[in-house]
Amino acid sequence: MLIALGVTGGIGAYKAVEVARGLQKRGHEVVAIMTASATKFVGPVTFEAITRRRVITDQFESGANSDIEHIALASSIDLLLVAPATANILGKFANGLADDFLSTLYTATRAPVLVAPAMNTNMFAHEAVRRNLDALAARGVRFVDPGEGYLACGWIGKGRLAEPDEIVAAAEAILRPTGTGPAPREAAASVLGGRRVIVTAGPTYEDVDPVRFIGNRSSGRMGFAIAAEAARRGADVTLIMGPTAVEPPAVRDVVKVRSAADMHDAVIGLADRADLVVMAAAVADYSPVERAAQKVHKAGETLTLVLRKTPDILGELGRRRLAAGRGPVLVGFAAETERVSEQAEAKRAHKHVDLIVANDVSRSDAGFEVDTNAVTIVGAHGAEVLPLMTKTRAAAEILDRVERLLAGSPAATRALRN
Ligand code: PMT
Repeated sequence: MLIALGVTGGIGAYKAVEVARGLQKRGHEVVAIMTASATKFVGPVTFEAITRRRVITDQFESGANSDIEHIALASSIDLLLVAPATANILGKFANGLADDFLSTLYTATRAPVLVAPAMNTNMFAHEAVRRNLDALAARGVRFVDPGEGYLACGWIGKGRLAEPDEIVAAAEAILRPTGTGPAPREAAASVLGGRRVIVTAGPTYEDVDPVRFIGNRSSGRMGFAIAAEAARRGADVTLIMGPTAVEPPAVRDVVKVRSAADMHDAVIGLADRADLVVMAAAVADYSPVERAAQKVHKAGETLTLVLRKTPDILGELGRRRLAAGRGPVLVGFAAETERVSEQAEAKRAHKHVDLIVANDVSRSDAGFEVDTNAVTIVGAHGAEVLPLMTKTRAAAEILDRVERLLAGSPAATRALRN
C-alpha cells in the first residue's frame, strides 16, 4: 500500500527513518513529507535514499504543482502517518490550518490518519494540546501514544516518540482490516496461503552495445504491488524483476534479470512448480540481433538496427499448459492505448491464459511509473472495468479474482498437488 509518512520537527525524526524501513519491509511503498523544521533534524536525502522517491519538503517547489501534487497524493495514499507529530502540527490538523504541504495533505485526503505525537511532558499534558488531540480523535484520527522515559530536553516523563516497531504495527493494524488483504495470522485461510507464486515486474533492457540498450518506462510498481499483496496473503512469492530504481518488496525470492531472454529463462525454469504466474513485466517484443562488442561510434546520417522477436514467455506458458492439460493459473497484462478490452481479449485467447489485466498506458494517471492504475480485467466470463485506484488496491482486486479461479480450477488444483 502507499503510505504518506509525514515527519515533523522533533528529535524523534531520526526514528522515522526506521519507521519508513519497517513499512517497506512489510511490502508498503512510502512517500516521505518533511516539514521545514524536520529538515533541521534529519536531511531529506536520508529519506530519499531509503524510500527511493523524491522527498516532499516544499509546497511551492518548482514543478511540484503541475499536477497539484497534494491533491494527487491525497487521493492515491492508503494511509497518512505522521511520526513524530509535534504540538504545532497537531494544532494545525485540529484547526484546519493548511500552510504547508503536510497540513494541506491532511485536509485534502480521505485516507485514514495515524499520528505518533512526541514532545516535552508538559507540552503533551497542556490543555491546548489535549484539546487538539481530543478534536482529532473525535474526527477518527488514530494515535500511537508516546512512551515514558528520558526526553531529549532532559525531563523524565511521557512524550518520547513511540518505538518504530510499535508505529509500524499500528499502521498495519489500520491497513489490514480495511480490506485489501488478510493479516499474516489469517494467511493460512487465504486461498493463496502456501501457494507458489511467480510475479514478473519492470522492464527488460535489450543491449545494443556496452553503453546503449532498448528499454521501456516500466518502473516495476504494478508487479511489486502484486508480489507484496500475494506475500501478505501467505503465498510463497518469487519476484522476477527487470532493471529499475524502485525498491522491490520483501518477498521470499527476488531474481534480478536484464533482458527478455534472461526473463524467459528465469520464468520457464520455475513455472512448472508454480500455482500462479502473473506477468506484469513489460517485456521487450524485439531485441537486437547482434550486440556490438564495442561502443558503436557515430558515423552516417542514419543507423539501422536489425531486431529479432523475443520469446513470448506468457504465450509459451499458455501453450505448455494447453498441451499438458495442467499447470499454473496464468495472468498476463496488456499495455494498450486504444480498444483496451478488445485487444486484451485477443491476447487472452492468443496466449491461452486465464486473465488479462489491461491498462490504458496513454493515460497520465495509469499504467507506467505512477502509483495508480485503472485496469480492465478480462476473463472467460467477460471484461470488468475497474475505476482508478492505487496499484496496491488494484493488486488486491486482481488477486481476489485469482483466488476465485484457484479455488475452482481443477488445473490449478492438480498443479498444487505436484
Ligand atoms: O511497472 P509500472 O511502471 O508499474 O507499469 C506497469 C505496466 C504498465 C508495465 C503493467 O501494468 C503492464 O501493463 N505490463 C505489461 C506490459 C506489456 O508488455 O504488455 P504487452 O501487451 O506487450 O504484453 C502482454 C503480456 O505478455 C504481458 O503480460 C507481458 O509480460 C507478456 N509478454 C510480452 C512479451 C514477451 N516477449 N513475453 C511476454 O511474456
